[in-house]
Amino acid sequence: MAKMWAGRTDGTTEKIADDFNSSIHFDSRMYRQDITGSMIHAAMLAKQGIISETDADTLVDGLEGILKDLDSGALEFDWECEDIHMFVEQVLTQRLGDVGKKLHTARSRNDQVALDVRMYLRDEIDEITALTKTLIAAVTAKAEEYYDAIMPGYTHLQRAQPITFGHHLMAYAMMLLRDVDRLADTRKRMNLSPIGCCALAGTTYETDRRFEAEKLGFDGICLNSLDGVSDRDFCVELMSAIATLMMHLSRFSEEIILWSSWEFKFVELSDAYTTGSSIMPQKKNPDMAELVRGKTGRVYGDLMALLTTLKGLPLAYNKDMQEDKEAVFDACDTVKMCLKVFSGMIETLKANTANMKRAAQKGFINATDLADYLVKKGMPFRSAYKISGQLVALCIQNNTVLEELPLSTYLSYSELFEADLYEHIDLTTCVEKRISEGGTSTASVKAQIAFVREALA
Ligand code: ARG
Repeated sequence: MAKMWAGRTDGTTEKIADDFNSSIHFDSRMYRQDITGSMIHAAMLAKQGIISETDADTLVDGLEGILKDLDSGALEFDWECEDIHMFVEQVLTQRLGDVGKKLHTARSRNDQVALDVRMYLRDEIDEITALTKTLIAAVTAKAEEYYDAIMPGYTHLQRAQPITFGHHLMAYAMMLLRDVDRLADTRKRMNLSPIGCCALAGTTYETDRRFEAEKLGFDGICLNSLDGVSDRDFCVELMSAIATLMMHLSRFSEEIILWSSWEFKFVELSDAYTTGSSIMPQKKNPDMAELVRGKTGRVYGDLMALLTTLKGLPLAYNKDMQEDKEAVFDACDTVKMCLKVFSGMIETLKANTANMKRAAQKGFINATDLADYLVKKGMPFRSAYKISGQLVALCIQNNTVLEELPLSTYLSYSELFEADLYEHIDLTTCVEKRISEGGTSTASVKAQIAFVREALA
C-alpha cells in the first residue's frame, strides 16, 4: 500500500513490515482525542493566519463528520492504516480533497501522539479515580456496619491485639485515599500540552501553542520541544500509581481469601462473587479476589515493560515509544475492571462476627493489656511484661485463658492485682481503651470514617 509519507522512498513496503509497524489496532481507541486535537489545531492555524478561516471551517466540519461517523459506526477503521493519526487524515483527505492535506501543517505525528496519549490518559485517571472513590465508599460503609465487631489484629500473622473489623477495613480506606491523591498528583504533571513541539525542534510557523493548550483543557505547555515529544514520564507515573493501587487491592484480596477459608471463617462472600469447583461439591472459591491478586503481577509487568523500553532511548522520538500504549492501556483496563469487581465484592460481603470474636478470645491477645494494668498500678513495663508472659505460659500449660485464672493465681505473681483486672482484660475494654488517634476504639474508628467521608466529599 502507498504511504502518506511516500516521498524519499516510494512508500511501498512489505505486508509483514506494515503489520509489524502498525499501531492502529491499539491506538484506534484514541480517535476522539485525535480528532479533538486536530479541530483545535485547525482553529489555531486559522487564528494565526497560517491557513484561511474557510479552510479551517472546512477542516473542522470534516473532522466533526468523521467523529460522528466513528461514534455511530457508520465509518469503520481501516486496519491497513498505520495508526489512528494516519487514518483520520486519510479519511479527511478522501472526503475534503486537497484541503484535508493542510491539516498537518506545523505539527508532526510525534507531538500529535504525545498529545493524544496525554488527553486519553487524563480521562482514564478521572475514571479510575471515580471507581476508587466508589470502592472507598463501599469499604467505609462496611466499616461502619462492623465498627464494633471484635477480631484479632495480627502481626506476623500471629494473633497480636484485639481490634475491630471496622478498624481493619478503614486501614484499606486510608490506602485507597492515598491512591486517589497519587492519581491527582500524576494528572497534574500529565496535564501539560506537547502539541506544537512538532517533530522535535519546534516550527518556523508562528503558531500559538498556549491557545491550543488552553482550548484542550491543559494547564500549560511542555517547555522544551525535545522533551515534549519524547517524554513518557506521565505513562510511567500513572502505571506506578496504578501498580501501587493494585498492590493495595492485592493485599486486601489476600486477606479476603484467608478470611473466607474454613480455617478463619471470618467473612462470607456473596455467591455472586464466588465460583464453585467442577469436581468438589463443597467448594466456594474466592476467584475474584484471587484474580485481582494475580492481575497485580500483570500490572507490575506493564510498568516494568515501559521503564525498560525507555531506558536506552536517545532524544527525541523513537519508534520504540509506540510500545507505551499497550502497556499503559492494559494497566488502565485492568485496574478499572478490578475496582469494579472489588466494590461489588465488598458491598455484598458479610462478616461472621461470632467467629471473629471467638478467634480473638483464644490467642491471649489481651496479654499486653494485662501488662499495662500492672504498669498503671506502678510496676515498670519490663517487669509487668515478664509476669504477663509467665501467666500466659501457665494458661497454655493448663489449657485455659487469662480470663479464667482465679485471682489467687494472679496474686501469687504480683500483689498489685485486684479484682478489677478482669474488667481490664475484657476484650471490649481492650478495644475501647485504645483511644489514641488512629487507634481501634470505636470512637477513633468513627472519627476515621468521618475523616474519609469528608475527604471523599
Ligand atoms: N504510531 C506512532 C506511535 O504510536 C505515532 C508516532 C509516529 N511517529 C513517527 N515518526 N513514526 O508512536
